[in-house]
Amino acid sequence: MREQLKDGHGRLIGDVRISVTDRCNFRCQYCMPADGLPWLEREEILTFEEIARLVGLLASMGVHDVRLTGGEPLVRRDFPRLVEMLAAIPAVHDLSITTNGYLLERDAAALVAAGANRFNVSIDSLQRDRFFEMTRRDALPRVLRGLEALAAFPQAHPIKVNAVALRGFTEQEAIPFAEFARSHPYEVRFIEFMPLDADHAWSRDQVLTGDEVRAAIDAVYPLEPEPREPSATARVYRFADGRGRIGFINPVSEPFCGDCNRIRVTADGNLRTCLFSAGETSLRDPLRAGAGDDELARVIRDAVWRKELKHQVNDPGFVQPARTMSAIGG
Ligand code: GTP
Ligand code: 5AD
Ligand code: SF4
Repeated sequence: MREQLKDGHGRLIGDVRISVTDRCNFRCQYCMPADGLPWLEREEILTFEEIARLVGLLASMGVHDVRLTGGEPLVRRDFPRLVEMLAAIPAVHDLSITTNGYLLERDAAALVAAGANRFNVSIDSLQRDRFFEMTRRDALPRVLRGLEALAAFPQAHPIKVNAVALRGFTEQEAIPFAEFARSHPYEVRFIEFMPLDADHAWSRDQVLTGDEVRAAIDAVYPLEPEPREPSATARVYRFADGRGRIGFINPVSEPFCGDCNRIRVTADGNLRTCLFSAGETSLRDPLRAGAGDDELARVIRDAVWRKELKHQVNDPGFVQPARTMSAIGG
C-alpha cells in the first residue's frame, strides 16, 4: 500500500472517473454539435492494459471507487473485457458505469457478469419526441428496453437515471420523472446544466436549478431529505409516503467542491483534477516512456496536490475549459 492520495487542501482522493472513449452514438444538444467532434485517433487512446495499470496504481494510493464514462463507454470495442480486468483488481471496491443506455440491451448481461456493480443511465425526457429533440436520436424505446434489461440483474442495483435540467424544457419533465421514480426501482437525478457544452452556448438563464425542480415535485409529491455523504454529487430526497427516491445535482446553484474526492482521466490519458480544470497532466507520456510505478505515482501525487479548491463557474471572468463534457466524461 502507498500513502493515501490527497490534495493541497487536505481532501482525500478516493474516486477516479475514467473516460474510455471520446466517441458517442448520441448528439445531445447540451453536449455535442450535431456533426460530432473530431475524434481522437486510436493510438492516442489508452489501451485496456494501460488503464488497468493506472487503476491498479491509483487503487494502491487509496482510490477505491472507479467510474467508467465516455463519450459513451459502451461504444468502445470489447468494453466488457476492460470491466473484467478492472473488477479483478482487489482494491477496487466500487466499479460503476455512466452510459446513455443505447447499447445496454446488448451489453447489460456481459457488463454485470464482468463485475460492474452500479450503473447510471442518462435519460433527459420520458417522451419519445422530446427525447429525440434533446439527443438528436429517436432512441427512447431502445434506451428504456436497455434499462429494463439491466434492472433484471439484482447485482446492477441501485440504478440511477440522470436527466440534465434545462430551463424551457425540463419543467414539463419534473412530474413524469417523479412518477417514474415512484413506480420503478430507479433513483432519478436532475443535473444542472454546466458550461461544458461543445457549442459554448451555455448561459446562466438556461440553468433550471435543482431547487426549482424540487419545489415543483414537492408540491405534488412531498419530499423528505435523506442524509448525505459529504463527497456525494447528489442531494437525495425520499417521497414522504415511502415510494421511491429522487435526487438533485446542483453544481451551479449549490457547488459541492468543498468535499470533492474525485479525479479524472481522459481517454487520451490526461489527468484532470477538476471537471473545470484549465490544465491537464499527461499520464500516457510517462506510461509509454517506460516509467515505473514509483515515478508514475509521483507524477499523480504532484498533479493532485494542486487540485483546484473549487470551480469558477460563478466567478467573474470564468473561462470554459477547452475540452468539452463528451471528452471529459462528466
Ligand atoms: P454516483 O456516485 O452514482 O452518485 O454518481 P455521480 O453523480 O458521481 O456520477 P454521474 O456520472 O452519474 O454524474 C452525474 C452528474 O454529476 C454529471 O453531470 C457529472 O458531470 C456531474 N459530476 C460528477 N462529479 C462531479 C464533480 O466533481 N463536479 C461537478 N461539478 N459535477 C460532477
Ligand atoms: N451539464 C450537465 N450535465 C451534463 N452531462 C453532459 N453534459 C452536461 C452538461 N453540460 C451529463 C450527461 C450524463 C452525465 C455524465 O453528464 O447527461 O448524465
Ligand atoms: Fe453522448 Fe453523453 Fe454527450 Fe449525450 S451527454 S452526447 S450521451 S457524451
